[in-house]
Amino acid sequence: MAAPCRIAVTGKGGTGKTTLAALLAASFLSAGVRPILAVDADPNANYHEALGLTVRETLGSMREEAFTRSIPPGMSRTAFLALRFRQVLVESDGLDLIAMGRPEGTGCYCFANNLLAEAMAILQRDYRLVIIDSEAGLEHISRGTIGTPDLLLVVTDPGMRGIRTASRIREIAVSLGLDPATMHLVINRDRGAPKEGAALPVPLLGRIPEDPAVQEADLEGRPLVSLPPEAPSRQAVAVLAGKILAICGGRGRG
Ligand SMILES: Nc1ncnc2c1ncn2[C@@H]1O[C@H](COP(=O)(O)OP(=O)(O)O)[C@@H](O)[C@H]1O
Ligand SMILES: [Mg+2]
Repeated sequence: MAAPCRIAVTGKGGTGKTTLAALLAASFLSAGVRPILAVDADPNANYHEALGLTVRETLGSMREEAFTRSIPPGMSRTAFLALRFRQVLVESDGLDLIAMGRPEGTGCYCFANNLLAEAMAILQRDYRLVIIDSEAGLEHISRGTIGTPDLLLVVTDPGMRGIRTASRIREIAVSLGLDPATMHLVINRDRGAPKEGAALPVPLLGRIPEDPAVQEADLEGRPLVSLPPEAPSRQAVAVLAGKILAICGGRGRG
């Protein structure tokens, strides 16, 4: 299979990264774009809930010493890694999920980050698309954990503060060597502002309206993938998914 198209969803906390990452997965699946690898790179993992999946184990719960000790005699570290990653992977129809989670106790993130980087390298070749629900900062990009995404979606609310945050994310991404052409703005909870044509730090890819169905699903603990296709947020994300596939070009088309 060709290299997958890798989409990283970034933005300030609470702007709708997980919502967008889950609705995108739903749109791609309905469009027959599969298999998808969903990566929860936020230590405060909740992508699985939005996808309606249960996570038994995260990479963060693996301790370095215990991990090294449990490598069976005669097995290489790489082979053992591949085996363990497949155990951590949550599989469902057309979509698998891997969660980084957070290290237990006062553990440092280094081992979990390294594991995530290795997991991505080993697993991603089996997928057409990789969707990464990132944490608020760009730590994973600065540490190289998620490699270089083909698309960096910057989610913002329509307010000017959100737009300024998007501008900072762009500066950081550029300083980390990312091609600005891979960055795209998504305005979430759109209420008509900023106006079409307003100066934006990152080119606008789409807008997702404020959708009471998203809130209801959240309140009732229902996965977002269960939203009906006619829900305004899903319709907007379906259009977005089409644009993303066009940008991915040859990649992700299998
Ligand atoms: N388009 C939307 N319409 C209504 N509520 C939304 C929308 N997008 C996100 N929300 C709500 O905003 C909150 C934060 O969204 P979430 O996706 O968890 O953000 P993040 O992952 O960036 O922290 C959640 O309660 C979610 O239900
Ligand atoms: Mg989130």
